[in-house]
Amino acid sequence: MKFFADTADIDAIAELNDIGFVDGVTTNPSLILKSGRDILEVTKEICALIKGPVSAEVVATEADDMIAEGRKLAKIAENIAVKVPLTWSGLKACKTLSDEGTMVNVTLCFSANQALLAAKAGATFISPFVGRLDDVNLDGMDLIDDIRTIYDNYLFKTEIIVASVRSVNHVTQSALIGADVVTAPPNVLKKLTDHPLTENGLKAFMADWAKTGQQIL
Ligand code: G3P
Repeated sequence: MKFFADTADIDAIAELNDIGFVDGVTTNPSLILKSGRDILEVTKEICALIKGPVSAEVVATEADDMIAEGRKLAKIAENIAVKVPLTWSGLKACKTLSDEGTMVNVTLCFSANQALLAAKAGATFISPFVGRLDDVNLDGMDLIDDIRTIYDNYLFKTEIIVASVRSVNHVTQSALIGADVVTAPPNVLKKLTDHPLTENGLKAFMADWAKTGQQIL
């Protein structure tokens, strides 16, 4: 399973990338706002840092405008994936941009039927938002399970990016289901190392090591 960083914070991406942890990056208008950066500039910097797909989202609502924005974003770098919303206009833009050879990430997916349509429109990626489904008392991971089954039934190549990830449990469940990618905020990705028994075990080893009076270097 691939890990994408769901952020436009270049320092956070660089820190995770130092341990080879970042297979790609996803951004959206809210994350660009949070970064305080110009979308074209920050996206170009991210693309230079990360070899894998970097999603940059269109903000137009009509298909022709989305296509024009998508073409401009795609020119930033070869590893751009243009992100479009799961609307009829978004699907139309997805089909056109995909046919032109641009990677497309269809976002704001909340149902299996939406994911089916995105795959038929040639999406490279589908982004179901699990956390936001959990927020309204539905089970976001059930949707991932359904999409995995549907895509496998028909051998769709569209990759499932589990998005709106809020916890390390979302990551585990995604891997068990066989999602292709999890995109998570840096704080969730960093928590993946945490375990109280690891922490306690390390403390005990360090205490015993100090008693030996030895040094390795
Ligand atoms: O990847 C989508 C993500 O950025 C949305 O997350 O936590 O705002 O639902 P959230």
